[in-house]
Amino acid sequence: MSLTDEGHYGPKQLNMLEVIWGKGYLSPGGSDEIDQIIGELDLSGKRVLDIGCGSGGAVFHILEKHNAAEVVGFDVEPLVIEQANTFALEKGLSEKALFKCISPGQLDAENSSFDAIFSKEAFIHIPNKIELMTDIHRILKPCGYLAVGDWMRNDDNPPSLQMQEYIAAEGLDYYMCSLDKYREILENTGFKIISMNDRNEWYLKKVKKEVADIEGPLWNQVVEAIGIEEGEYALDIWKKLLGVVEKGEHRPGNFRALKQ
Ligand SMILES: C[S@@+](CC[C@H](N)C(=O)[O-])C[C@H]1O[C@@H](n2cnc3c(N)ncnc32)[C@H](O)[C@@H]1O
Repeated sequence: MSLTDEGHYGPKQLNMLEVIWGKGYLSPGGSDEIDQIIGELDLSGKRVLDIGCGSGGAVFHILEKHNAAEVVGFDVEPLVIEQANTFALEKGLSEKALFKCISPGQLDAENSSFDAIFSKEAFIHIPNKIELMTDIHRILKPCGYLAVGDWMRNDDNPPSLQMQEYIAAEGLDYYMCSLDKYREILENTGFKIISMNDRNEWYLKKVKKEVADIEGPLWNQVVEAIGIEEGEYALDIWKKLLGVVEKGEHRPGNFRALKQ
């Protein structure tokens, strides 16, 4: 059994993640964590790209709170793009929130076409980080910013057995690297590092609460969303996730970089 039986981000996965992380979000932390990733960057009036936008939570927040002129969301999963478009209509943001289903690989965007690029917990699914950063550098305007949150590892050695078991339970393609590896790749691609933040401590507190909530106050909602059997499977995944975060091997992290 797997939450990904109907596609990596199919209906079961989306329903479950919405219960735990909120409407429009397929990763933890909601708008507060998006603000943490963006930090002091001024996105007002800017054209922004969100790579791996999911169902659009960050795109809407960047428009509404950070006053971007336009945010384009790219994702490889048709269902999340469909959901993002529905939410954009509900919010009356369809003219400024433009979602596009893309194929994996080179980004379908012109050279120097974005003022800023944002991404949250999507680079984990992209195997070749050097090609990715080179492509991002190509489509950013000079002096444009990259602001990213991702699920990373403590180092770039082969994952421990415990980590392998967690990743297998998730049933998703995970290509995790360390914050140090991202630093090296960004520098080699011509970015100037603005900041790098390890978020393991923050997420450890949060994931403990997520497990307690799934077992406790959110259990009925989980069962309603995905059924008892799948709910128990999801709880097991979350306990495995807690294990590798607690061990310090799973390390969410954020970074910002400038295209010089
Ligand atoms: C964990 S979800 C995060 C979604 C969203 N950023 C959020 O924080 O709610 C990862 C997303 O990355 C997308 N994704 C996976 N591979 C991708 C690729 N090569 N290019 C763009 N998006 C991708 C998935 O379809 C999924 O929607």
